[in-house]
Amino acid sequence: MTETLAQRRVLLVIGGGIAAYKALDLIRRLRERGASVCPVLTAGAQEFVTPLAAAALAGERAHTDLFDRASEAEIGHIKLARQADAVVVAPATANLMARMAGGHAADLATTVLLATTLPILIAPAMNVQMWAHPATRRNRAVLEGDGVRIVGPNAGRMAEPESGPGRMAEPNEIADALERMLGQQAGDRPLAGRRVLVTSGPTHEPIDPVRYIANRSSGRQGHAIAAAAAAAGAAVTLVSGPVALPDPPGVAVVRVETARQMLEAVEAALPADIAVFAAAVADWRPEQEAGSKKIKKDGTGPAPMPLVENPDILATIARLPVGRPPLVVGFAAETDTVVEHARAKIARKGCDLIVANDVSAEGGVMGGADNTVHLIRRDGAVETWPRLGKEEVARRLVAHVAALLAG
Ligand code: C5P
Repeated sequence: MTETLAQRRVLLVIGGGIAAYKALDLIRRLRERGASVCPVLTAGAQEFVTPLAAAALAGERAHTDLFDRASEAEIGHIKLARQADAVVVAPATANLMARMAGGHAADLATTVLLATTLPILIAPAMNVQMWAHPATRRNRAVLEGDGVRIVGPNAGRMAEPESGPGRMAEPNEIADALERMLGQQAGDRPLAGRRVLVTSGPTHEPIDPVRYIANRSSGRQGHAIAAAAAAAGAAVTLVSGPVALPDPPGVAVVRVETARQMLEAVEAALPADIAVFAAAVADWRPEQEAGSKKIKKDGTGPAPMPLVENPDILATIARLPVGRPPLVVGFAAETDTVVEHARAKIARKGCDLIVANDVSAEGGVMGGADNTVHLIRRDGAVETWPRLGKEEVARRLVAHVAALLAG
């Protein structure tokens, strides 16, 4: 277990409660496990322990003031909020929890807590009645909703004669909870530091200003893959054709209309470690560029509309002589002999993996919520998944490609 904290940096915010003395012991426990600790003390904390004591145990200076000339010049509170692997708040008093839940930035501790994007673990410590108060319960729910992890409080005797939950978790319990949090983070984010490119949705190929050629793709599968890759820690660019879906959270979305625009946006989004081509690109477009005038119906029937083939985005990127993403994934929507067709497609397109699905009308895959897919690798290996929601297909696919990339 101790591996997780080795070489890790912890920003320790010490709140103003009697349990602050235990925060000093927490510094010692964290350092025993190989972490470095940067202490930040609220004004309240300094009523119970001194910055000097925290600094002596941490082996580095303790921070106390928002407008501290020395630290502003050296690092600044925003940097303080970034240069660590996690933030621990111990003790988290009722007041500190309320200020965190409210997004206050009144002093160094709350400013750092508002400015940070690091995972946060809090160890509440307060009087039993304060912990049970509806206001504290609300604040706790808000913080949990914001992704803050909580350890304790424990039940037991406290400074006051009352007993019940409110006593801060023991330093070793806090260190264990921190290890779990950081361990899960590493496990949950297998694509941290990776760049992922995803195409999604249909393309629209204009015939004139009001008419176009399109297909029934909803973009649900591609958008779900972009969301799952972002949740796995990747920096994701989603190049999307016209869809009625919201942008997935944490994803850079480039909206395009035609296949040619999609290719251009894809090329602009490179380099990438993984490229997933889930878009249902229109195979053909009208040869005649759409003008600004609507084609009139003049009673003689429609004029012939010659079509030309669109660029194959997947094949273009998979065959790039320079800058090809190490892992290129294509989709195959087939109505029959799905796996055989997909095998042939891998060879034709030059990609590493094909996600093949049966889009025959009976399956209801096109625009639907579920998908039954087969994964076909370049070496011919096939993996068939049961019928799953498109979100679950996305999560499994992201885990699969992350494992392939990790080798
Ligand atoms: O050839 P087919 O359309 O069946 O191939 C499907 C795969 O190729 C999908 O991954 C799709 O996103 C991609 N594709 C593409 N550009 C095209 C046609 C298909 O990227 N013009």
